[in-house]
Amino acid sequence: MKRLVIATTNAGKVREIVSVLDGLEGWRVEPLPGGLPLADETGSTFVDNAVQKGEFYSRILGPEPWVAADDSGLVVDALDGRPGVFSSRYAPNDEARNRKLLGELRNVAEPNRSARFVCALALARNGGVVWTTEGSVEGTIALRREGTHGFGYDPVFLLPALGRTMAELPPEAKNRISHRGRALAMFRAHLESYGQESGRG
Ligand code: IMP
Repeated sequence: MKRLVIATTNAGKVREIVSVLDGLEGWRVEPLPGGLPLADETGSTFVDNAVQKGEFYSRILGPEPWVAADDSGLVVDALDGRPGVFSSRYAPNDEARNRKLLGELRNVAEPNRSARFVCALALARNGGVVWTTEGSVEGTIALRREGTHGFGYDPVFLLPALGRTMAELPPEAKNRISHRGRALAMFRAHLESYGQESGRG
């Protein structure tokens, strides 16, 4: 059985990653051990930052476990791509982030409120990244918060085709269409191929 450590302390991300990778043959999925330092996030793209996190935690965790690192965020066209890779640093907590975003967009009309969620995942081992993937989902920024599921910017991210925010979707529905769900589907398929190689560490 190979071990895969989910290298994030964000509870929302952990829930979604564990739920999509559940039952993956040949792998045991584990949380990040407590008390570890935080990885730097100095890259200019989501993939750069996922690679940084993957390298950092897989170096700390040593040669045995594999590591899955997630870097993700919200890209808003009317804000020239902000908050982007700074999504978690845009304001101190989810409530403040959503309030600030709605405030920044208060004079932006609905046709100009396009945005996307992006999720980059990196698979790493022993200090080196061996594979990366990225998923995204298009939407618009709602005029007000709706819904209680999910985390982060989900209550203000509207999926025009569904007429609902991401936070109005139950977890399974979010995982089917979200940036993370899409990246994880590719990640899962990739891990399945490793899991089947019995001779490989
Ligand atoms: P980081 O990847 O740890 O730098 O943080 C990403 C930030 O983007 C999170 O703290 C959330 O604010 C936001 N984010 C990432 N994924 C999602 C999502 O699925 N829903 C809502 N917000 C998200």
